[in-house]
Amino acid sequence: MKIKAPLAALAALLVAVPSGQAQAPAGAVAASAVLRADQPGPVVNKNVYGHFAEHLGRGIYEGIWVKPDSPIPNTRGIRNDVVAALKELHIPVLRWPGGCFADEYHWKDGIGPREKRPAMINTHWGGVVEDNSFGTHEFMDLVEQLGTDAYVTGNVGSGTPQEMMEWVEYMTSDAISPMANLRRQNGREKPWRLPFFGVANEPWGCGGNMRPEYYADEFRRYNTFVKNYDREAPVYRIAAGANAEDYRWTEVLMDQVGRRMNGLSLHYYTLPTGNWGAKGSATAFGEDQWFSTLKRTLRMEELVAKHSAIMDKAEADRKPGPFPGADRKVGLVVDEWGTWYDQEPGSHPGFLYQQNSLRDALVAALNFHIFQRHADRVVMANIAQTVNVLQAMILTDKEKMLRTPTYWVFEMFKVHQGGTSLPVELQSPDYAFGQEKIPMVSASATKAKDGSAIHLSLANTSLSQAVALSVKLAGVTSKAVAGRILTATDMTAHNTFEAPNVVQPAPFAGATLKGDVLEVKLPAKSVVVLELK
Ligand code: AHR
Repeated sequence: MKIKAPLAALAALLVAVPSGQAQAPAGAVAASAVLRADQPGPVVNKNVYGHFAEHLGRGIYEGIWVKPDSPIPNTRGIRNDVVAALKELHIPVLRWPGGCFADEYHWKDGIGPREKRPAMINTHWGGVVEDNSFGTHEFMDLVEQLGTDAYVTGNVGSGTPQEMMEWVEYMTSDAISPMANLRRQNGREKPWRLPFFGVANEPWGCGGNMRPEYYADEFRRYNTFVKNYDREAPVYRIAAGANAEDYRWTEVLMDQVGRRMNGLSLHYYTLPTGNWGAKGSATAFGEDQWFSTLKRTLRMEELVAKHSAIMDKAEADRKPGPFPGADRKVGLVVDEWGTWYDQEPGSHPGFLYQQNSLRDALVAALNFHIFQRHADRVVMANIAQTVNVLQAMILTDKEKMLRTPTYWVFEMFKVHQGGTSLPVELQSPDYAFGQEKIPMVSASATKAKDGSAIHLSLANTSLSQAVALSVKLAGVTSKAVAGRILTATDMTAHNTFEAPNVVQPAPFAGATLKGDVLEVKLPAKSVVVLELK
């Protein structure tokens, strides 16, 4: 069948492939799939493409906030270049102020005239002085500039229920009340929207070293004082969930908190070595750590499946309650995920600054495919973290800014936001390394909200093996395919301030439609997103 690519895509095909972009070699290994558009699944919550920005290193300060008098172009102190780049990702939700920082943050220190705000020590992250110049008003300004939703995490570890109650009143009450009046006095007449509120962060660790039974009681107590000032838009309450495979945490929370929470979180980080003392470098690695990183990141599948099964069982066992909404599902909120490497040589050890290579792009794609496969339970995910920290979208150096390979995966995958998931039955060859193996191909598909297109994203984990993938399209009437690819010659390829475009998407001409079969030549170590129309 003749491919009818949209004009814009055809024009894009004429653009030269950037240097560093590999082409599909001959001698590909075969893989097959059935894309079941005839069996649509649940909607992929757009919030799966969410973000997290903590008061940590140069994440907020310099990365986002430069103060209004900075020579770096800004709007009320917030960097214009970073906001413009992030807006292209259609960020649906932004989590703030932590992380571990949240449980030592006292919000009243971050309001009012900036020159009068008290300073504090950021004990978790480098022991640096936090001047509180970025507080509630500045965060909500950022949220409004980005056109995203706020997800604020409250302080249970070292704060009080009164402090939490007053913060929610300050942000969301329209009444003539003490906190709403204080907000007005500080320059904001109307309340802000607060769609999501987290009651603590990692209470099993930096948030207070609690046992799950104790935290369940703390959640019940603190959550009581998170009021819905806007009855039309009740706050979605997220309880702090398990550290990776701590399944007992989920069991206890489901049993003892149950539907008092709307969402329950999960944190899982990908370390190349699995050793917190020597995690591995972001850019100096061989095939052993390419492979181990991808294998470890694929553990997310097992974690999400097992935590979901516990939640399913708890909900199936529960008797229907007398309250409206008592039968709704608790959402799984993966509000911290991503790679965690040794900090960049020469950078501050407490700042968690790391480079980001093609390997991170594969990590992002594999995780999104997992979240989309579990769209019935995973309602949100927040990559750690947006700028200059861990698996960042953006790196800055004073006035300079670059987009990382992870940024480009978010940009390519944004077409999945809010789409209907379509099952992909995949037969993939293995990518073996030593005695271990992982699937070579990963795939996920959605139908766009407006029904105008089907998007199929693909990843090839192999470093050297191209794949010839044949996809039977069940229930698809498309006549044209177009796409983009993210790859590079070298597995450690990354963008620097001197060469910011080494890894960036290029038009992809390796897909052809033959009747109801889509043939794809998927190059080694690549991420591809196809649009079928
Ligand atoms: O994202 C960095 C840190 O990792 C967060 O502050 C904490 O919640 C987690 O341990």
